[in-house]
Amino acid sequence: MSRRRILVTSALPYANGSIHLGHLVEYIQTDIWVRFQRMQGHEIHYVGADDTHGTPIMLRAESEGITPEALIERVWHEHKRDFDAFGIGFDNYYTTNSPENRAYCEEIYGSLQAAGLIARRPVEQFFDPVREMFLPDRYIKGECPKCGTKDQYGDSCEACGATYSPTDLVNPYSTVSGATPVRRESEHFFFRLSDPRCEGFLRTYTQQAGHLQPEAANKMLEWLGEPGASKLADWDISRDAPYFGFPIPGTLGSKFFYVWLDAPVGYFGSFANHVANWPAGAAAIDRDHFLKPGHDTELIHFIGKDILYFHALFWPAMLEHAGYRTPTHVFAHGFLTVNGEKMSKSRGTFITAASYIAQGLNPEWLRYYYAAKLNATMEDIDLNLADFCARVNSDLVGKYVNIASRCAGFIGKRFDGRIGTMAHAAPGTPPSLLDDMRAARTTIASLYDAREFGKAMREVMALADRANQYVDQEKPWELAKQPGQEARLHEVCSTALNLFRLLTLYLKPVLPKLAHEVEAFLGIPPLVWGDATSILAPGHVIHPYRHLMQRVDVKQTEALVAANRETMPGATVKPAAAAADAATSAATATATATAKAPAAQVGAAAPGTLTIDEFARVDLRIARIVNAEKVDGADKLVKITLDLGGEQRTVFAGIKSAYAPESLVGRLTVMVANLAPRKMKFGVSEGMILAASGEGPGIFLLSPDDGALPGMKVK
Ligand code: MSP
Ligand code: ZN
Repeated sequence: MSRRRILVTSALPYANGSIHLGHLVEYIQTDIWVRFQRMQGHEIHYVGADDTHGTPIMLRAESEGITPEALIERVWHEHKRDFDAFGIGFDNYYTTNSPENRAYCEEIYGSLQAAGLIARRPVEQFFDPVREMFLPDRYIKGECPKCGTKDQYGDSCEACGATYSPTDLVNPYSTVSGATPVRRESEHFFFRLSDPRCEGFLRTYTQQAGHLQPEAANKMLEWLGEPGASKLADWDISRDAPYFGFPIPGTLGSKFFYVWLDAPVGYFGSFANHVANWPAGAAAIDRDHFLKPGHDTELIHFIGKDILYFHALFWPAMLEHAGYRTPTHVFAHGFLTVNGEKMSKSRGTFITAASYIAQGLNPEWLRYYYAAKLNATMEDIDLNLADFCARVNSDLVGKYVNIASRCAGFIGKRFDGRIGTMAHAAPGTPPSLLDDMRAARTTIASLYDAREFGKAMREVMALADRANQYVDQEKPWELAKQPGQEARLHEVCSTALNLFRLLTLYLKPVLPKLAHEVEAFLGIPPLVWGDATSILAPGHVIHPYRHLMQRVDVKQTEALVAANRETMPGATVKPAAAAADAATSAATATATATAKAPAAQVGAAAPGTLTIDEFARVDLRIARIVNAEKVDGADKLVKITLDLGGEQRTVFAGIKSAYAPESLVGRLTVMVANLAPRKMKFGVSEGMILAASGEGPGIFLLSPDDGALPGMKVK
């Protein structure tokens, strides 16, 4: 078999959220495949990165009062920690906000431009006049044009299910500032996917053997439409400032590459960085051997089915017309459901990687469970928590580990840790079992290679069943009590440990940490696939056996769900629209968590649970209102001067509908004191005061009990 040279990627997770068990389907799937190929002796480079650009990250950083760079730096460490904990063995984990990525983006863009594949034309979009930025649709809310429910997103209504476009919303508002968005035109840059060159290329590329899975190739045919009547629209690749991303060359900082342009290029950026950091002395890798056409290498992307469009159309077309190689395979997987349903924060099934670790669950349990469920299709996979416990306990502990735990002790105690000769017995017992187990290496290898991990696990467990039958039949624990059965005992235990060694080899891509412990216990070098044909030779000395894996207790999964469950928001206390624009009522601008009944609806909008440390980051203080006045040109806002016990702050609050400014002077309230200052049309707002509001009218400012003084901390 010739040595394959493969660059493998997993999709780049957004740098504004935590890694959760859904993400891990992908990273575990990729990692298993990579480890398997490496055990085969192939040259593999597995790279990843955080996807760091775009509006949500810019706004999230702003709301935390930090720079986007500081935010993505912090999240990078969190992601890296989670990946390490789950044994995801990236050769390089990087960021899209890198000089390497920027250089590739500029170069690719330049080539597309030179090829005549970049167009410019005006686009009309929603614009937030207060925040002075164009708004992606998801930052626009308003009343459903059909049933009138408030606070609906611009695409569909959660209450009545109607679908519409953002322009149809009644009383639309920007969720960024509360302002009424206006329509504004600006020039955008497009990648001309509708060009016959792109269409022609994609018709071939997407249908050629093996680039895409069959069901993905069919989807692409649908998306491409009838030949000659292509449905491919040009792809808008620019965004206006302010934007966190790479500036488009020649636009004087006014236009940026849309995050989905620079994200896949980030695969190359991470790989280039990996090559640059290649250890001195090791045979150099030429990055162009993997990135430019004409070399005997493979480029393989593992992704979720939701981002197929980007990876199967835009990305290959971009590469093809910019002089780069195109992906050898794009492998898409399905989505994770938990207990048969979409992951949900209110049910506690939106489980983060960090919480899984914090609850003390073994990451390799999940790796095994996913492996047992995964196949090469785009079907969704279900994590059923009861089944998870049953499967892990029965397969890993009850079958696999059980072989070693029943036999290893005798080798240590009775034979100085020395392996003996293998059994030669009647048909149906070893060596035929050992032969069968070895022979299975070819089938198991092709199942791994084809990403049929579930089938591979079934093969392995069938072999484990047979090894257990052998031990059950030979009963070493009884042989150990019978005089004159020393040799037989030695033979049985040596045989069983050899079977165990082979099972370990077959499970190693899935259970790298456990395999490592077994290698240490057996006193052998790291197992590679070729070791399937060798044995632990007579006389080989093993180390004392220590128990390899605990059983999972159902209580642990219950605790995990409880730890991830978010309480349903009822009437809540919210910032009184520090950033609300005059044109929008404060109540509307901030009413995100009112009493919308069904859990499913609230789930998506529900705020994340906080750790006590996170909560402690919010500096809540008692403040005295020392001055309050109306704001000219803003009929909802009050300009408030607060005394924090020495220090003064100015905030703008959208509470004029409920309070006459002069009535506020002198009273105490609660403010968020460490909110990043925000520039508004009327001045800078330096914090927020807190008020309650519900479904009906009314805004109710908080006050402390008697005795509280300005500057006191609220906690
Ligand atoms: N940033 C983009 C990918 C850019 S790649 C150039 C993105 N990020 S993501 O964080 O939303 O998702 C990262 C990967 O995790 C995607 O492949 C996505 O399909 C996968 N998954 C996210 N949630 C998932 C489940 N619930 N189940 C399975 N995979 C899921 O998309
Ligand atoms: Zn509706």
